[in-house]
Amino acid sequence: RYFGAAVPAFKLSDSQFTGILDREFNAITPENEMKWDATEPSQNQFRYTSGDQIVSHAQAHGMKVRGHTLLWHAQQPAWVQNLSGSTLRSAMMNHVTQVATHYKGQIYAWDVVNEAFADGGSGARRDSNLQRTGNDWIEAAFRTARAADPAAKLCYNDYNTDGINAKSTGVYNMVRDFKTRGVPIDCVGFQSHLGTTLPNDYQTNLQRFADLGVDVQITELDITQGSNQANMYAAVTKACLAVTRCTGITTWGVRDNDSWRSGDNPLLFDSNGN
Ligand code: XIL
Repeated sequence: RYFGAAVPAFKLSDSQFTGILDREFNAITPENEMKWDATEPSQNQFRYTSGDQIVSHAQAHGMKVRGHTLLWHAQQPAWVQNLSGSTLRSAMMNHVTQVATHYKGQIYAWDVVNEAFADGGSGARRDSNLQRTGNDWIEAAFRTARAADPAAKLCYNDYNTDGINAKSTGVYNMVRDFKTRGVPIDCVGFQSHLGTTLPNDYQTNLQRFADLGVDVQITELDITQGSNQANMYAAVTKACLAVTRCTGITTWGVRDNDSWRSGDNPLLFDSNGN
């Protein structure tokens, strides 16, 4: 199993940060550098400089890279937000092909699609510009990604899917359907942005996905600081270790001050790097 951290390229020059990263972790997820707004700020003009810096650091230190993320309703460049229909669909698949081809052979697992399901009790897809191009956009993205980089594991990634609930069951039904019809999907990521309690069916949920024949990974773990934080880190880790197909855990940052939720002090290292 790998143990990863989300890394922004600009922190690769912070020696306290890289000291911990290189000592404690053997996988990296670019925190923002491989998102659509970063990699294709204008249509068909690709920018890979900061993503490449992260890949270089990983390779120099023998770390795996999780690619994050090819298609997501958030952090889209403005030009994408102005497209719809078949024009948008073409731009989506071109983006998948171009970015996956640039990083071909260098990515352990791609989050091909991020956060495509709705919160709440519907178990349905989230409404988005991507979804409005047709319900088959997710399978089209996975087939396109497989063609571009056959060696990368292809993942679906989401949040609030950490226990058994309507949203995780919606994802489960999609993965089961994909496996039945031969749509290329290899893994499911559970972001696991957690508060003060862990769903008591956390491990059971990971296992039901694994039983569909996909790997499962904890992809963006962070946990609100409090009396239960250490217990929850232990319980998440034990759950992954207990599921044979749980292939890795990534925390969404290294130190509390690196976190997108820094007010919650949710990471394993404090702001002094302890
Ligand atoms: C977050 C980053 O950590 C922030 O720096 C950025 O401003 C917004 O995105 N789910 C995801 C991640 O899949 O990409 C998000 O990362 C956190 C929620």
